[in-house]
Amino acid sequence: MEPSKEYLFKYKGFYFSVITSPEYVASLEDFEIKDSDVFLVTYPKSGTVWTQNILSLIVHEGHRNGTENVDNMERIPWLEYKSTDKDYANFPLPRIFASHLPYYLVPRDLRNKRGRVIYVTRNPKDVMVSYYHFSKFMSTVEEVPDFNIFMERFLAGKVLASSWMDHVAGWYSHAEDFNILFLTYEEMKKDLRSAVLKICNFLGRKLSEEELDSVVQQATFENMRKDPRANYENLPDDIAAKDKGSFLRKGTVGDWKNIMTVAQNERFDKELEEKIKTLPIKFMWDINDEM
Ligand code: A3P
Repeated sequence: MEPSKEYLFKYKGFYFSVITSPEYVASLEDFEIKDSDVFLVTYPKSGTVWTQNILSLIVHEGHRNGTENVDNMERIPWLEYKSTDKDYANFPLPRIFASHLPYYLVPRDLRNKRGRVIYVTRNPKDVMVSYYHFSKFMSTVEEVPDFNIFMERFLAGKVLASSWMDHVAGWYSHAEDFNILFLTYEEMKKDLRSAVLKICNFLGRKLSEEELDSVVQQATFENMRKDPRANYENLPDDIAAKDKGSFLRKGTVGDWKNIMTVAQNERFDKELEEKIKTLPIKFMWDINDEM
């Protein structure tokens, strides 16, 4: 079954939400990059908002010490979905953007190693399950109530951001074109402090021990869940069905085991197992797996 045109359009082989337009996406090719720019890139449901929050906590002292109350979407806007009316040219430096773009649709200069990219991946079974729940929560994403049908759509890449495999394989195989840091959701989950330090080193930011503690503390699932900005609680009711759950849902590794049947798991493995082996990442399917 094809995804509904009411929700998605295809541009150069990639599915976008209708909240943006092909013209706007096309214009990003010429988007002017500054050397200090940072792009947080993910396939949906891989820990984007989590990393967005961490970046904001690292870069903005006012976020870290609670003296400023600015929406993350304002501070770290979506590149392909304009989430702020502010003029990017006058944004405070370093500018940070979030994006789900595939490697071949990002601004040309980024591909010429200007600016920095942080690319976060998550094991695709947890991505798929998180995505399934998200489709019920966000009215801008087509709801597919039957998990089996959702899985087939996911495996066929007939969802927003298209194929998980193509996205991840594309970014990894073109790594040398970018100034890029790869992180996984699972490593952040296992050792958040080390992940935050990796990000600081990549950005060339030196935080004191107390500042680092504060970032780590505020970026835990429990604390972010209490933060209305991180949990999308300010979104209007017609966009986020808060009665059906919250954006920060479970935040665990291995939740796929609670929903996928043995047959579904076999079907998933049959489709992706061989391809996943070609990626230079060892996925953690369970929090007790070795990294
Ligand atoms: P679950 O649905 O499995 O709970 P994205 O921001 O890319 O859409 O990813 C959303 C997923 O990241 C959700 O997964 C959400 O709960 C999880 N997440 C967000 N903040 C987190 C945090 N601080 N710690 C762990 N997981 C977090």
